[in-house]
Amino acid sequence: MGLLLPCVLLVSASTFTLGLDFHQGSKPVSYSVFVKRANIGEKIAKRSVPGWLGASPNHQIKRRSAEQGDSCEALKGYGSKLADNTHHYIFNDLSGSVSLAWVGDGTGVILALTTFQVPFFMIRIGQSKLYRSENYGKTFQDVTSLINNTFIRSEYGIAISPENSGKVILTGDVSGGHGSRIFVSDGFGKSFTRRDLPFIPMMQITYNPADSKVLMVVSTNNELWLSEDFGSKWKNVQKLVCLVKWGLNNTIFFTASLNGSCSERGMLELRRTTDFGKTVKTVASKIYSFGLGGRFLFASVMTGKGTLRAIHVSVDHGDTWNMAQLPPVGHEQFYSILAANDEMVFMHVDEPGDTGFGTIYVSDDRGTVYSKSLERHLYTTTGGDTDFTNVTSLRGVFITSVLAEDKSVQSVVSFDQGGEWVPLRKPANSKCDATAKDPNKCSLHIHAAYSTAMKLNVPMLPLSEPNAVGLILAHGSVGDAISVMRPDVYVSDDGGYTWIKALSGPHHYAILDSGGLLVAVEHSPNQAVNQIKFSTDEGQCWGVYNFTDDPIYFTGLASEPGARSMNVSIWGYRDSLINEYWISITIDFRDLLTRDCEDKDYVQWLAHSNDISDPNDGCILGYKEKFLRLRKDSVCWNGRDYQVTTQPTTCLCTLDDFLCDFGYYRQENSSVCVEQPDLEGKVLEFCLHGKEEQLQTTGYRKIPGDKCKGGAMPERKEIDLSKRCVSDLVSPELVVESHSSKSIPIVLSVIIIMLLSVTASVIFVKKYVCGGRFLVHRYSVLQQHVEDNAVDGMDDPLETNHTQNGKIEFHDDSDEDLLE
Ligand SMILES: *[C@@H]1O[C@H](CO)[C@@H](O)[C@H](O)[C@H]1NC(C)=O
Ligand SMILES: *[C@@H]1O[C@H](CO)[C@@H](O)[C@H](O)[C@H]1NC(C)=O
Ligand SMILES: *[C@@H]1O[C@H](CO)[C@@H](O)[C@H](O)[C@H]1NC(C)=O
Ligand SMILES: *[C@@H]1O[C@H](CO)[C@@H](O)[C@H](O)[C@H]1NC(C)=O
Ligand SMILES: *[C@@H]1O[C@H](CO)[C@@H](O)[C@H](O)[C@H]1NC(C)=O
Ligand SMILES: *[C@@H]1O[C@H](CO)[C@@H](O)[C@H](O)[C@H]1NC(C)=O
Ligand SMILES: *[C@@H]1O[C@H](CO)[C@@H](O)[C@H](O)[C@H]1NC(C)=O
Repeated sequence: MGLLLPCVLLVSASTFTLGLDFHQGSKPVSYSVFVKRANIGEKIAKRSVPGWLGASPNHQIKRRSAEQGDSCEALKGYGSKLADNTHHYIFNDLSGSVSLAWVGDGTGVILALTTFQVPFFMIRIGQSKLYRSENYGKTFQDVTSLINNTFIRSEYGIAISPENSGKVILTGDVSGGHGSRIFVSDGFGKSFTRRDLPFIPMMQITYNPADSKVLMVVSTNNELWLSEDFGSKWKNVQKLVCLVKWGLNNTIFFTASLNGSCSERGMLELRRTTDFGKTVKTVASKIYSFGLGGRFLFASVMTGKGTLRAIHVSVDHGDTWNMAQLPPVGHEQFYSILAANDEMVFMHVDEPGDTGFGTIYVSDDRGTVYSKSLERHLYTTTGGDTDFTNVTSLRGVFITSVLAEDKSVQSVVSFDQGGEWVPLRKPANSKCDATAKDPNKCSLHIHAAYSTAMKLNVPMLPLSEPNAVGLILAHGSVGDAISVMRPDVYVSDDGGYTWIKALSGPHHYAILDSGGLLVAVEHSPNQAVNQIKFSTDEGQCWGVYNFTDDPIYFTGLASEPGARSMNVSIWGYRDSLINEYWISITIDFRDLLTRDCEDKDYVQWLAHSNDISDPNDGCILGYKEKFLRLRKDSVCWNGRDYQVTTQPTTCLCTLDDFLCDFGYYRQENSSVCVEQPDLEGKVLEFCLHGKEEQLQTTGYRKIPGDKCKGGAMPERKEIDLSKRCVSDLVSPELVVESHSSKSIPIVLSVIIIMLLSVTASVIFVKKYVCGGRFLVHRYSVLQQHVEDNAVDGMDDPLETNHTQNGKIEFHDDSDEDLLE
C-alpha cells in the first residue's frame, strides 16, 4: 500500500517576515484578458506544417519524423568521430571551487578561477589560482602570476563587461588593510593591471551598461564610489547609500538614508545622478524600496497610513510619478517585479499573512493600470522563491506554479503574456503518477526555482534560448501536482503546447548550435560518470558517448552562453585517496554534424498555431509569426552565424486585444469593458494622484505590445473619470500626510478592505544589470577531506545559483539583489 502514496510537494509554513522589497527579474506583467482560444489541451496530435505557407514541397514535411529512430540511425559511427575531438585537461589544483567566465562572444576565451580557503584562527587563509583558455576550454594555461598570487574574493567572482569589450575585473582580498585591491584587464584577460582601492567594496563592482569604462560600487561603510577610467581613479560621490542601480543613458539611481541607517525602510530617499555624481537630485522620499524594469522605475512609498506602502511608477526617470493601481501592502508583505520589458510589467503582490502565495498583475503600457492575471501564485516570503519563468524561445509564453487549495504545487502556462493560464498538457509518452486521481487525465508539472530551494533532486532550471525557437527543456513530473519523487527531463519543441518525456531521471543539459544539438549528463552525485547523451532531433532520440574510460565525479556542464557553440565542457574531479584534481573534458561536436545546413533542411513553422484553417490562428498580441526551423531529421550544422528567420503578419483586432482601463472591468465570460459602479471606494488612491490625462478614457486600452490593426476597434466616447473622484481628496502631493476629517472614515474602510482581500508589497530587483556576458559559472565546493561524504557536499543548493539559462551562476550575495 505504502509505495504508491501520492507524494505532493507541500509548502512549509513559516512565519518569518523578511524586509524584502523590490525584486526585479527580466520579465513582463499581465492583464485580465479573456482570450478565447481553441482548447489546445485536448488535441494530442502534433500540428503539421501547413502546405499553403510556401510553395516548396519541403514545407509539407512535418518537422518531427514519423519513424522515431531515423535520426539515431543517421548518427552511426559517431563514437570514433567524437573520440578524436575529446580533449582532457587536468588541473594541478586541489581547490574547493572553480568559477568560470566567458570573456567575449565567440572568442573562445574562458577564465577559470579556483579558490581554496581554510579558516585559521579567525583569519582567512586562502589561495586563488587563475587559468585561461583561448580554445573554448580544450586547454588552459595557469596565469596565477598575472594576479601576483593575490587571494581573489570568490563571492565577487569575475566581473565581465556587458558589451563584448573584453573587460574583466577581479576583486582581491587584502587582509588587514583599509583598502582593497582589484585586477583589471581590458584585453580579454591576457594581462591584468593592479589597482589599489581607497575603500573596501561591499558588492561586486558594476559596469555602466552604456559605457563599460565607468565603474560603480558601494563600500562597506555605505559610500558610493565611481570611476570613470576603468578603475584607476575613484571618487566618493555620496555617503549613507543603501542600494544603487544603473539606469539607462548613464543614469544612476540609489537610495540614501537620512540619518545613517539603511534598515530604516520607508524613510529612505531615492536619488538620481546623470553626470556621475556631479549633481544629485532627490526624486522621491519615504521610500521603502525601488526597482527598475524595462523603461519603468518603481518605488514602494509609505502611504503615511501606518505601515502600508504603495507602488509609484515613473517612465521619465523619476521626474514625475504616478500611483500604480495596485493594492497597498503592509510591512510583512512584498511586491516583486517578476518580469518587465519596455512595454509592460508582471508584478507579484504578496497576500497578507504568511500564505506563500500572492497575485500576479499585468500592467498597461504606462505601468499604472493593472489587471489581475493569476491568483494563488506561489512565491514564498522566506526564500524569495518563485517558479515564474519567461520562456525565451517563444514570444508570449510564461510558466509558473500555483499553490492549490490542498497546498499542492501545480504548474501553469500562459501563451499570451499572462492573459490566460492553463495546466500543461500531459506528454503523449507519459503515464500519470500517483498524484493523479484519474490515471488517464493529468498534466505535466515543471520543477523550477521553488523545487531547487526545497532541495529536491533537480539539478537545473527550465532552459530555453531565443535562438532555439520553440525549444524548452525542463525537469518535471506528470500527475495532478508536482511530485517530490525523482523527476524526469521533458522537452517541448513548440513553446510549451506539447511535451515529450526525453530522459529518465535528473540530468544536466545544454543547448548547442541554436537548438540543432542538445547534450545531457545524468545527475548522479554519488556515482562517477563517463557518459554524455546528445540529440540532434530536439530530444526524441539520444546517442550515448563514453567520454572517458576512467569515470569522474561530475560537477557541471559548461558551454558558451548564447547556445551557438558546438563545444561543451564536462567539469568534475576524480576521486583518489589523497587528491581530488579538477578535470575538464571538452568535446567538440563539429565533426558529428558533418555538413552545414542548407535551405532544404529548414521548414516553415507557424508559432502558436493549432488550426491553420482559421485565419486568426497563431495570433498572439495582434500578430502571428512564421519561423524557418530545422527539420528534426536533418543532421547538419546551423553554424555560429545562424539567425532566426521570422515573418510577422499583423492580425485583425478583437476586443481581446484590449484591456479595460482604470475604472472599467470585464464581467465573467465577456470581452466588453463595463464601467465600475463603485469607483469611489475602490480607486480612491488613483483618483487622488492620477494625472488628468489618465482619467480621460474610453474604457479600453491596447494590450502592451499588441500590434493588431483594423478589425473590431472598441468605439466609445471618451469620458473624464476625474469628475467621479471625491473632490476634496485631490491633492498634488505624492505622500499624503493627513486628510480632512471628512475623508478619514472613507480612507480607513478602504484600507481595511484591501488588507483583507489583497495585499503585500515587496519589489525585488534581480541582478540582471550586468546581464549579457556576465555568465559566470561556479561549481560548488568539493570537500577537501576524503573521509566523510565528500560528494554529498557538492549539491547543496545553497552553494549554487541557477540562472535562467540553466548555468550555475556565480554570485553569493544573494541572487535576489534585494534592497537592503
Ligand atoms: C521574455 O523574454 C524575451 C526573450 O528574451 C524578451 O524579449 C521579453 O521582453 C521578455 N519578456 C518580459 C516581459 O520580460
Ligand atoms: C607582488 O607582490 C609582492 C609581495 O607582496 C610585491 O612586493 C610586489 O610589488 C607585487 N607586484 C605587483 C606587480 O603588484
Ligand atoms: C537615452 O538614449 C536613447 C538612445 O541613446 C535615446 O533614444 C533616449 O531618448 C535617451 N533618453 C533620455 C531620457 O535621454
Ligand atoms: C533615524 O530617523 C528616524 C526617524 O526620523 C528615527 O526613528 C531613527 O531612530 C533614526 N535612526 C538613527 C540611527 O538615528
Ligand atoms: C561505456 O561505459 C559503460 C559504463 O559506464 C559501459 O557499460 C559500456 O560498455 C561502455 N561502452 C563502450 C562502447 O565502451
Ligand atoms: C569549438 O572550439 C574550436 C577551438 O577549439 C573553435 O575553433 C570552434 O569555433 C568552436 N566551435 C564553435 C561552434 O564555437
Ligand atoms: C462562464 O463560463 C464558464 C465555462 O464556460 C461557466 O462555467 C460559467 O458559469 C460562466 N459564467 C457566467 C457568469 O456565465
